[in-house]
Amino acid sequence: MKESILITGGAGYIGSHTAYLLAQKGYHVIILDDFYYKQPFNHSWATVIKGNVCDDHLLDKIFSQFSINAIMHFAGFIAVGESVQNPFKYYDNNVVNTLTLLKKAIQYKINKFIFSSSAAVYGLPDQLPLKEDHKTLPVNAYGNTKLVVEYLLSDVARAYDFKFVALRYFNACGAEFHHGLGEYHQPETHIIPLAIRAAMSGKEFKIFGNDYDTPDQTCIRDYLHVADLALAHEAALNYLKQGGLSEIFNLGTGRGYSVKEILTTVEKVCGQKLQIKICERREGDPAILIADPAKAQKYLGWNAKNSHLEKIISDAYQFERLSHRESHLSKEAII
Ligand code: UFG
Repeated sequence: MKESILITGGAGYIGSHTAYLLAQKGYHVIILDDFYYKQPFNHSWATVIKGNVCDDHLLDKIFSQFSINAIMHFAGFIAVGESVQNPFKYYDNNVVNTLTLLKKAIQYKINKFIFSSSAAVYGLPDQLPLKEDHKTLPVNAYGNTKLVVEYLLSDVARAYDFKFVALRYFNACGAEFHHGLGEYHQPETHIIPLAIRAAMSGKEFKIFGNDYDTPDQTCIRDYLHVADLALAHEAALNYLKQGGLSEIFNLGTGRGYSVKEILTTVEKVCGQKLQIKICERREGDPAILIADPAKAQKYLGWNAKNSHLEKIISDAYQFERLSHRESHLSKEAII
């Protein structure tokens, strides 16, 4: 019999790529997603349940109906700026709903849990690249909610027969467009899809600050292809299945690119010059964030294999082109 994995947020960006990979590896994938972004998702390789993690009765139904071996918890809000404006929304969804899910996991004796944490838990780095034992002092509510859940998980793991892996993502990007998967946030705030859309439409792209203490004065980030993120989740699942202890891992490449380097590569891949406007810094943006991925490499036997910048941008570009064509076609169909 196939092993069943519950994937909350499995119709979202990183969740869908991971769900697809696990389905290909022979798991029965059960996706619980509230379709907050109204994203199109018609995939036959998963059991898809529309609903929210806060729905106690729905969780009871799912856990009684399916024999679930592990939970991967992706569902959560991700917009840093919004989290500062509306902390209750973030604590409700990212913390309170996770608490509901964890109580159910314990009630139904599900003892393997993989959690989507974030590099946002570190705040402003003292040392680079960031290792997992770097101090955690988030500078926004989003990062705080991720850190609170990390603490919650360690307390649950201390009290019960329960093991977790928390994965601190650096900058997720790219797409597996050939499987109909990609990034679909509304509103979109991330640099790569925004720059690609600017290249495709001729609209202006805003650089948030060119007065940082970096070689070209723009921020540097560690960009990780979503296909590598999916592989890391599979590796984390195997790690727990083999009796691994609860751990926290960075997921990044160990190499950073500046905003200007991203934009130059977008221009090259899309064959279009960008209209660039230099704007004020965005609040809460550290100058440089780069992961030290050594711990994940050692414990999970995982390496970022797909994260070459041109491949990332080219895959994201193909996904944008397909989505653009589909939305254009569906508008034509309505008319
Ligand atoms: N940027 C621009 N213009 C834009 C968008 C982004 O110049 O229109 C810059 C940002 O200032 C930043 C870089 O591009 O320097 C990357 O920004 P993103 O918004 O793409 O990504 P972040 O690094 O801000 O965010 C990522 C994750 C978050 C996570 C955070 C942790 O997407 O979920 O890392 O620091 F919280």
